[in-house]
Amino acid sequence: MSKEKIIISPSILAADYGKLAEEIKKVVASGAEYVHIDVMDGHFVPNISIGIPVVQSIRKVTDAVFDCHLMISNPIDYVDEFIKAGADLISFHVESNSNITETIKKITSAGKKAALVVKPATPIEEVFPYLSEISMVLIMTVEPGFGGQSFMEAMLPKIKKLKEEAEKQNVQLDIQVDGGIDDKTAPLCKSAGANVLVAGSYIFKSPDTAKAIETLKA
Ligand code: DX5
Ligand code: ZN
Repeated sequence: MSKEKIIISPSILAADYGKLAEEIKKVVASGAEYVHIDVMDGHFVPNISIGIPVVQSIRKVTDAVFDCHLMISNPIDYVDEFIKAGADLISFHVESNSNITETIKKITSAGKKAALVVKPATPIEEVFPYLSEISMVLIMTVEPGFGGQSFMEAMLPKIKKLKEEAEKQNVQLDIQVDGGIDDKTAPLCKSAGANVLVAGSYIFKSPDTAKAIETLKA
């Protein structure tokens, strides 16, 4: 069963990196429970973002949950370093090259939470065999790699299917959505069964951060 409380995870990809510490403090003070950290290797996705030293530096800024979304080809090789740097929750793609069960084990045996991510073209059924081993599934609602893209409404049935399957398997599972989440698309995701919302542009480009977060939760 999914939990009812809505958790907000602002994606710092949309933050001003020149004042990242203040940007993070602002979203956490405004009610965000998680901080979504997008890691891109220029290989798994056609973009490069931030890595381990940045996670280590911003760890000193807040106690909020660090939700690390690894868009990298070989996540298993970097799990230990991200954990050492301060990751609390590590999401990696089912489409990556790493062995899924081994990667999950590496994360959970270090006492951290593991999540699996599916790209828009990947059937949600691919995560079904792992639901009892993970805390969360992230359903991408845009093609991973860039912020500021439009929400793909065709992903909504995947959320519903996953929620039904989690209930069928009787597992506690968070369902996260990422990409194009705003005041119009958040309600669609929530009614489909999502309970963890990632939002980059909508939160960081808003003139009133607290109001933006409150709107997503409402
Ligand atoms: C895309 C990233 C997202 C992105 C979301 O590859 O995974 O987390 O930052 O940005 P918005 O909310 O602007 O679509
Ligand atoms: Zn992300």
